Amino acid sequence: MRKTFIAGNWKMNLTKQQATELGASIADAVSQTNDIDIAICPSFGYLDSVGTALGESTVKLGAQTLNANDAGAFTGEISGPMLCDLGCSVVILGHSERRELFAETDQLVNEKVKAALTHGLHVILCVGETLEQRESGQTNDIVGGQLVGSLANITTQQMASITIAYEPIWAIGTGKVATPQQAEQIHAHIRGLLVNHFGDSVAQATRIQYGGSVKPDNAQELLAQPNIDGALVGGASLDCESFMQIIRHG
Ligand code: PGA
Repeated sequence: MRKTFIAGNWKMNLTKQQATELGASIADAVSQTNDIDIAICPSFGYLDSVGTALGESTVKLGAQTLNANDAGAFTGEISGPMLCDLGCSVVILGHSERRELFAETDQLVNEKVKAALTHGLHVILCVGETLEQRESGQTNDIVGGQLVGSLANITTQQMASITIAYEPIWAIGTGKVATPQQAEQIHAHIRGLLVNHFGDSVAQATRIQYGGSVKPDNAQELLAQPNIDGALVGGASLDCESFMQIIRHG
């Protein structure tokens, strides 16, 4: 039985005060629900204060990317050890905005995954196709290529520290959510690939989140699908009440 995992990706949003207050409200609201895993991922600059606001809460603190190197001359970057130092236990890697806007390749994402695991961070690995790729029938191949490339040389043991997030790019921030059937189909495909690469028990234990315009009114049906084990939530995670409503459907 896979434990539902809901994560909020705050992207490059909020002020320090808003982020800290949102973290505190979520920690407060979550104190009664501990049967699912919850993480929030503020921007780097607010990790410290949001981490403090979370206090002893079971809500995990996550980052939105990292640099694969531990330290050195990488202006503007942040490393795995730094994220750990700031109290993070989760990191989102390979988000489509990183892949598209910052030219992250599967190879680079793979290096980041390995670095994150070395430092004990739990990885949310994102994969997903564009609208054009979907319309030309390439979804399975694109998602499969990203998955296999980003997980190259990852061991079956390490898979215990990885969650996959299927995020169709055409559904991110657009209000166009994948239907539960469309999402379930790709999630089942991803689980099939995990069976091929890591064996059945790893594949059955790995959580696959759906992401892309998840809102309180569509979360229930998405999360009811057999291969959808959680959600990676962008816009709707910026409001405590809407994030909590999604969590209550988990
Ligand atoms: P959205 O973003 O929920 O705003 O569509 C999801 C994501 O990019 O992780």
